[in-house]
Amino acid sequence: MNNTPHIPVMLNEVLENLNIKEGGVYIDGTFGNGGYTSAILDKKNTTVIAFDRDETVLPRVKEIKEKYGERFIFFQTCFSNILPTLKKNNISSVDGLVLDIGVSSMQIDTPERGFSFRFDAPLSMAMGQNDLDAKEVINNLSEKELSDIFYKYGEEPRSRAIARRIVSVRGEKPICTTFELVNIIKNVVGEWQSSKVIPRIFQALRIYVNDELGELEKILNDTEAILSVGGRLVVVDFHSLEDRIVKNFIKSKTEVKHTLSRYVPSETNNNEKLSFKNIHKNAIIPSDKEVQINPRAHSAKLRVIEKL
Ligand SMILES: C[S@@+](CC[C@H](N)C(=O)[O-])C[C@H]1O[C@@H](n2cnc3c(N)ncnc32)[C@H](O)[C@@H]1O
Repeated sequence: MNNTPHIPVMLNEVLENLNIKEGGVYIDGTFGNGGYTSAILDKKNTTVIAFDRDETVLPRVKEIKEKYGERFIFFQTCFSNILPTLKKNNISSVDGLVLDIGVSSMQIDTPERGFSFRFDAPLSMAMGQNDLDAKEVINNLSEKELSDIFYKYGEEPRSRAIARRIVSVRGEKPICTTFELVNIIKNVVGEWQSSKVIPRIFQALRIYVNDELGELEKILNDTEAILSVGGRLVVVDFHSLEDRIVKNFIKSKTEVKHTLSRYVPSETNNNEKLSFKNIHKNAIIPSDKEVQINPRAHSAKLRVIEKL
């Protein structure tokens, strides 16, 4: 079960949009099972610098290192650390950066990591290099903090009632397992509604525990410094909260801003130099055939920009 290999999502689209060139240097910010990394390394004498926060990817890193040698470099750290890591290692800008945000199949399908509400396991959800886990969050945060997390990151309308019940239950005894949390949610919303609500609460906790949106914002802000001119950023995301951040970032970097006031001198209109161009007007989504083969790809969206 815990060895389910991760099927790379939209692999051909990722490779095509990275615009891979002979001898190019590419960053895979979310190594996972190395699906993108190895496909990039199979092309044109490229180099891949890969990052992942999860130490369980290390055996796969070793395999890829054995196959590709010095063309493959790996750092076990969060992708928000890419820029400082490149600087520390005297690596200047690169030709492309790909991010495949979220959890891998290996992470979801390893019951003891607590990502899945389908298995009874300790409440963890930590991807690696974390300051906290879901058990600490559930047992220590205030009712208001929990309710805000469920609402903000899970878009769950019953967030307050669920947070209230959690606080009442943990007053008797700490909440330690995924099924304890699942039962609390079922008690609040009823069996019928729970199939919708449980995934939202688990998503919210995972996002909070791993600071997923903060990580995304940080790496996007560093992209300009990471890429060479002509270098591409390719992002594959899986839910609306992430996609909103990516879309807004792309908009801010690729669209001319129009000042509203006619009293503002014209030379200050649109004077902020655009740093990227948008490669596709709309997000690319997986084909029906891909979703049939790999249902986990169903919500994926791929967006691409190129540094000017
Ligand atoms: C969806 S998987 C990537 C799969 C990969 N593209 C492949 O083809 O095998 C996402 C991976 O990114 C890692 N990850 C998620 N957020 C991260 C972050 N902020 N920093 C570093 N790695 C992260 C996870 O640990 C996971 O291994």
